[in-house]
Amino acid sequence: MKALTYDAHGGTDVLQYKDVASPSPQADDVIVDVAATTVNHLDLIQRAGYFTLDGYALPHIAGMDVVGTVIEVGANVTRVAVGDRVGIDPSMHCAPDGSAYGGENDLYGKLGVIGATLNGGYADQCLAPQTHVYAIPDDISFEHAVVFPTAWMTAHHALFDVGMLEAGETVMIHAAASGVSIAAIQWAKSVGAIVLATAGSEEKCQKALELGADHTCNNRSEDVAKWAREITAG
Ligand SMILES: NC(=O)c1ccc[n+]([C@@H]2O[C@H](COP(=O)([O-])OP(=O)(O)OC[C@H]3O[C@@H](n4cnc5c(N)ncnc54)[C@H](OP(=O)(O)O)[C@@H]3O)[C@@H](O)[C@H]2O)c1
Repeated sequence: MKALTYDAHGGTDVLQYKDVASPSPQADDVIVDVAATTVNHLDLIQRAGYFTLDGYALPHIAGMDVVGTVIEVGANVTRVAVGDRVGIDPSMHCAPDGSAYGGENDLYGKLGVIGATLNGGYADQCLAPQTHVYAIPDDISFEHAVVFPTAWMTAHHALFDVGMLEAGETVMIHAAASGVSIAAIQWAKSVGAIVLATAGSEEKCQKALELGADHTCNNRSEDVAKWAREITAG
């Protein structure tokens, strides 16, 4: 198969589009024909080389966010079938022993992450355990579904699992034009919260308003705490 890979750190010039070995599934694995992937924060900082996860090594195929169509399944796979449209959860926490990534499943030890320490979505095909693929509803395009696995789920976890945000409550979202915060603004508005967004430029504040933020503040030129107290009446 073809993949966009790199064997040295740097800018986009280190990327090489070339032939690599296709993945081969073990009993609990599926092979996904990649339809879309993203340019995630971690994809960029690992390629630049100034931050890498434990277990990352060169050469690397980036792409933490992967969606596509199942084209091959291992002998034990019952959860999905060839032809299904799926998205991949990239964190190999709890990957089954029957997967090629079964030894990468320890949240507090060796934890593999597709696109970060394991081969990712910048390739024709991507391997994942059957436990880590999820059906994509027919009315959601691959290009929309592909934002969910990391940035959108991170924002969801922060707002709702940790923050327990509810309708009518006020939430402040910093770095409002960042990948995670673009998602957070839209999640928060979807449940009827009031969004105070801060960002480092007027252009980014404008973007936050377009995404649905109720109030914005340029955190390089304004006093954020004073602004927030005024809007929320203390
Ligand atoms: N993307 C993901 O899927 C994901 C998943 C889990 C965790 N995370 C973590 O979440 C954080 C944000 O990720 P992201 O993908 O949303 O990043 P991003 O799109 O690259 O945006 C980062 C934002 O942080 C602000 N920033 C950058 N340098 C800064 C500095 N020195 N001081 C203050 N603000 C600074 C900038 O916004 P302003 O100019 O508006 O300040 C920038 O737009 C990162 O720590 C990342 O590791 C990301």
